[in-house]
Amino acid sequence: MTRPDGPDAAAGGPGLDQREEATRIVAKGLEAVAAARSLDELKALQGELVGKRSSLAGLGRTLGGLEPEARRRLGAELQEARSRLEAAIDSRRSLLELSERAAALESDRLDLTEVLGGSSRGHLHLLTQTRDELEDVFIGMGYRVAEGPEVEDDWHNFEALNLPAAHPARGMWDTLYLDQGESESILLRTHTSPVQIRVMQTQPPPIRIVAPGRVFRRDTPDARHLSTFHQIEGLVIDRGITLGDLAGTIESFTSAYFGPGMHSRLRPSYFPFTEPSGEFEVTCPICAGSGCRTCTGTGWIELGGCGMVHPNVLGAVGLDPEEWSGFAFGFGIDRCAQVRHQVPDMRVFLDNDLRLLTQF
Ligand code: DAH
Repeated sequence: MTRPDGPDAAAGGPGLDQREEATRIVAKGLEAVAAARSLDELKALQGELVGKRSSLAGLGRTLGGLEPEARRRLGAELQEARSRLEAAIDSRRSLLELSERAAALESDRLDLTEVLGGSSRGHLHLLTQTRDELEDVFIGMGYRVAEGPEVEDDWHNFEALNLPAAHPARGMWDTLYLDQGESESILLRTHTSPVQIRVMQTQPPPIRIVAPGRVFRRDTPDARHLSTFHQIEGLVIDRGITLGDLAGTIESFTSAYFGPGMHSRLRPSYFPFTEPSGEFEVTCPICAGSGCRTCTGTGWIELGGCGMVHPNVLGAVGLDPEEWSGFAFGFGIDRCAQVRHQVPDMRVFLDNDLRLLTQF
């Protein structure tokens, strides 16, 4: 091979074909890189354009057969071609990474805003609203709100409430026991009545509290029962409290909560922790007392239990029954909401059905 001399000869001469080929490769390569739609596609393209088996690498292997000057020029151009392709691949990669990330974020996005007829604002569940309203009524009557644990011990849930072990009335509550401590010693409270005990243990009379909360029973849910539901308990302890105070309190509560024209009545019943005990009923809100299917023609709907606190219960917390007396009551918050809003089946309270959630 002859050594090229002069500028023209240097521009052309040996290696010229390869240089032209390199220019074509770069032009086509840049086009392909710009057209790459995905990172995978770009990766394959990178192999084709600048990998060991690329045409560019093939051209590089012809360098050895060239004169030094032609080799230097072709070498420099191949280097330049490679750099341009790599730079284009790098910048395309950044772009694709950004857009693939954006697409992934978009497709992973959770739409947590449910469109509810033009308004997507949430609000408290009907049961929470009901509990708040009940609390308000009693706070207005001078009561304080108390709380107790949902996991209780046998003593607070039963024993101190005048229900010693094996008392037949324990069967009134289908109890869920926890696998803790001695057998059947720890349980999920079956009613809010144990809060009475806890309050009397920690606070001297006079006492006037309501205790709303969740309670649990080993029960199959149906239209009027849930196995996890809510009660509100009331307790008043003072000197000289009478059954008349209880009846008057229930009546004031009934008209304050259910509305004017709604009344209450007490019917004899049995609870171990009260003597005498009663069930209290309120005017049926569906027929306003004239008698319908819901109230089985009586005009009354049963809401809860109540009575005068049993001397044994006062004794269990160290209060002298000769000095102190009181009344207690307890009823279902879920039942209250059901009666007031005429909800046919209580199970909807736990369903999260938007139709109920938006209605109330
Ligand atoms: N704890 C009773 C129940 O769950 C309801 C009850 C009855 C509460 C009479 C009372 C009461 O405070 O005096 O069935």
